[in-house]
Amino acid sequence: MSAPPESRSSSSTGSHDSPDAHSGVRIPSDAELAEMSTEDLVRLGNRMDDIEVVSDRARFPVPGTRAERRAERQVAGWFVISALSGLAFLAVFIFWPWEYVPAGEEGSLAYALYTPIIGFTLGLSIVAVGMGVIAYSKKLLPEDLTIQQRHDGPSKEIERRTAAARLVQTGATSGLGRRKLIVRSIGASVGVLGAGLAVAAFGGLVKNPWKEGADSALLTTEWKSDGERVYLRKNNGVSEDVVLVRAGDLPAGSMETVYPFRESDRSDPDKLKEVLTSADSPVMLIRLRNNVAVIKRAGQEDFNYGSLFAYSKICTHMGCPTSLYEDQTMRILCPCHQSQFVANEYAKPIFGPATRPLAQLPIAVDDQGYLYARSDFIEPVGPAFWERRS
Ligand code: FES
Repeated sequence: MSAPPESRSSSSTGSHDSPDAHSGVRIPSDAELAEMSTEDLVRLGNRMDDIEVVSDRARFPVPGTRAERRAERQVAGWFVISALSGLAFLAVFIFWPWEYVPAGEEGSLAYALYTPIIGFTLGLSIVAVGMGVIAYSKKLLPEDLTIQQRHDGPSKEIERRTAAARLVQTGATSGLGRRKLIVRSIGASVGVLGAGLAVAAFGGLVKNPWKEGADSALLTTEWKSDGERVYLRKNNGVSEDVVLVRAGDLPAGSMETVYPFRESDRSDPDKLKEVLTSADSPVMLIRLRNNVAVIKRAGQEDFNYGSLFAYSKICTHMGCPTSLYEDQTMRILCPCHQSQFVANEYAKPIFGPATRPLAQLPIAVDDQGYLYARSDFIEPVGPAFWERRS
């Protein structure tokens, strides 16, 4: 081990004669620094940084004892748990049936468990890594107690070098290098956890939400017809009590929330309920006051029926229901972030964070006066998403 720097002659090449401004410790020359061992540098750094080592005791002074191996197994156990739960997360994320199944139908339990299970497995994996790090520091790192006085200002080169030496020494005394079981279990844990997070981030590439093409869930709504006419119905709270909407039902300046209805669903209570609770079903049917100037969107000139206009209720900002219609200003208000849309100008946004108009449903009236949808919306309802073109 090198002699303490204070006892050396300051005439060595590159010696700094003046002591360190903070600590008063003589700064060794570059040549002296080059000859100093890691332990010398750590001691020098301690003196310069006003660090007092009160105690520094190895947990296992004799390496390889049964007690040490038991402690290693306990630490490694946490990382193994992390790796296994990370693997479970990956498997569930990729292979578990995740597509929506209504309650009561076959597969609904598996669907209901999907989110809790991926949350539990990923959470356990992360927690187990933290527990492993804590267990390592409690059971295997040397027990030391140091006290440091803090100083202002940036660190000098010599302080950086001594700090680096201290890190090297900490790494050496941690014993990680000779604890292969723990190193391997940490590698497995961090590797699997990293892979899990990568899969979660790019999950859309693992699962193909577009496998149904133009019929994919984000591109269609319950208003899409399979050949059968889709009528506008009210919702009075009883899904089986179907009340269709006539063109003359709404007084001027009023709004009614309507939902899709197919005659073939009338005898299917579950389907009636499902359509009413489907997120993209609600539509605001608005009758503008008479003699109001209307500006129509290009390509949607015949989507209205007289003064009746039907707009998706799903806000184009983040998908809240834009449930408020203010007749005097003809503004549709979204309560979430205060976006406002103009009902007599194809529901274009004029205030707030929304940037696209509400989707407009093309409507017509049958020979008995009932309103029906001429087609599904011609654009996706609600907020933007990656593949959206409009
Ligand atoms: S969701 Fe409507 S303004 Fe944000």
